[in-house]
Amino acid sequence: MANPQTVHRSADDRPQELRWIPILAGAFAVLVAVAATLAFLLAGDRDRSDRAEMFAGLGGDFELMAHTGERVSLSDFEGQTVLVYFGYTYCPDVCPIHLTLISAALERLDARSNRIQPLFVSVDPARDTPEAMAAYVQHFTPGLIGLTGTEEEIAQVARQYAVARQIVQDDALSDYTVNHSSVIYVINGEGRIVDVLSPDSTPEELAEQLRGIL
Ligand code: NI
Repeated sequence: MANPQTVHRSADDRPQELRWIPILAGAFAVLVAVAATLAFLLAGDRDRSDRAEMFAGLGGDFELMAHTGERVSLSDFEGQTVLVYFGYTYCPDVCPIHLTLISAALERLDARSNRIQPLFVSVDPARDTPEAMAAYVQHFTPGLIGLTGTEEEIAQVARQYAVARQIVQDDALSDYTVNHSSVIYVINGEGRIVDVLSPDSTPEELAEQLRGIL
């Protein structure tokens, strides 16, 4: 069994005092996400049609660049349930955790997960090239499609889906981080948001919520 300290050091050779900065940024991203989604999630005990009603002004079609280099639209997935998660490949901790959760939940749905298309939309198009997205999405569920675009395209989709994103420049680090809201949009076969789920759940809880929607 590997010594966890050895593993940690080999994964991150930065001095201890630099390491907490992205971790704090990640924690802040969670707080932003919680604040941004509280209004949605507070209505959790409403029935499903009421919840779909709440998201009526949100979302809509978009066209972006897939990690394969092809242009992809939400409407390409007509008839399927689509999960949309916004994030970025340089995210130090929150995005990988949430994409792992989505992957694990889809695995639990077995054959039914074939009817679900997960999409990962970049909030950091400057660094998330299609090549970067291609390298990143292969760490998660096989069907995951990474989407990026120009700053204008991403800004437009972020507005449509009310996604908060904020670039944080760290003087101690050469790279910036992006605070962003983290929720899972569930979109039905007609392209409409039918629910917004919290990624702060277990794979089994998320799978159970998805079973209720399918
Ligand atoms: Ni993230």
